[in-house]
Amino acid sequence: MSFDYAAHVRPGLPPALPRWNGFPRYNFVGGHSDAERIPIADLVAAASAVIGREGRKLATYGLDSGPQGYRPLRAFVVKALAARTGIACTADDVLITSGSLQALDLVNALFLSPGDTVVLEASSYGGALTRLQRVGAKYVGVALDGEGMRMDALAAALDGLKGRGVKPKFIYTIPTVQNPTGTVMSLERRRELLRLAAAHDIAVFEDDCYADLLWDGARPPAIRALDTSGRVIYCGSFSKTVSPALRLGYVVAEWPVLSRMLALKSDGGSGALEQMILAEYAPAHFEAHVAGLTRTLEDKCRTMLQALEEQFGAAAEFSPPKGGIFVWVTLPPEVDTSRLNQAALAEGVAINPGAEWTAEPAAGRNRLRLCFGNATKSQIREGVARLAEICHREFGVPVRGANVTR
Ligand SMILES: Cc1ncc(COP(=O)(O)O)c(C=O)c1O
Repeated sequence: MSFDYAAHVRPGLPPALPRWNGFPRYNFVGGHSDAERIPIADLVAAASAVIGREGRKLATYGLDSGPQGYRPLRAFVVKALAARTGIACTADDVLITSGSLQALDLVNALFLSPGDTVVLEASSYGGALTRLQRVGAKYVGVALDGEGMRMDALAAALDGLKGRGVKPKFIYTIPTVQNPTGTVMSLERRRELLRLAAAHDIAVFEDDCYADLLWDGARPPAIRALDTSGRVIYCGSFSKTVSPALRLGYVVAEWPVLSRMLALKSDGGSGALEQMILAEYAPAHFEAHVAGLTRTLEDKCRTMLQALEEQFGAAAEFSPPKGGIFVWVTLPPEVDTSRLNQAALAEGVAINPGAEWTAEPAAGRNRLRLCFGNATKSQIREGVARLAEICHREFGVPVRGANVTR
């Protein structure tokens, strides 16, 4: 190859990615789901029914539903949100996106110029942080505890920014099964967050993609459901409840927001077959499917926490997550989890190093996120044992687990 692309591409591109070589044997990264729980027969039946009945709509961009997405899917989102989150909206308030990642991109494109500031949880979704970095935005992390983002810390952060003449563009929050801490923001804090956002006249971006996966099913009202001012843009996803490969998410917002987002959504519409199949499948099956999936995930979570206790003992600190697919672990300060990740990857164990999941990378240096969604229970046990061995070899910890001495 003699043509030098590097000399021609635009400056400031994100780093090039390596070629994909398959998943590592013990894959504790990413938001993958449980393979055994994919509802294959029901999806096949839904596909056959909906394509047979409405397949001619595939002749048009937007499935005869316009650019906001297939109307029956939007209608399902409306019903599910009303039942589960208290959000009252109509299909006209919903935009179907290609995964909620596209929702993140659209919100960022709508609000952010280089140098703008976003306020978010001090530990937050790595994919959101990299996106903010890519658009040249700054972010300020707000401390969390067992009830999610701390409102005293949020008030201090907003006051501090104001004192410096900085008006943040929005507060980005994952209030229900926060990524990575697995916490759930209390109702009082949701109200207080809205009060502070109103006092500072800023928007709120609520990312709720794990909220259906609470162990006890008792989902607090969405922040958007508590808001009367229209300042909350809400996004959800079918990635964690049905399949991440579908690439279907959604935004709920007011028309002045959606109409601008539509102008920025430049893909000609999200995948049509995916939308049709999901819209056909979900009304009859979503509820029962999510209940079953949640039990499976809770069981795997127990296995993961047990394995951590057995293999790492007191060296691994964590709070059991309230739902979802991951656990956030703190190791002793001498462990650099970015280095641990390199060593572990070479031996087939993939983890998310904490520095990539924290607003201040130094605060995440000895932390890691472990996803238990896709690994089998035996992979979880073996993988955590291997991780403990590697960590012991590289950093001298753990010296002993509950029933392992090294
Ligand atoms: C908090 C959060 N938001 C958004 C996403 C994006 O998910 P998707 O684009 O698959 O809907 C993820 C994926 O892991 C996530 O953890």
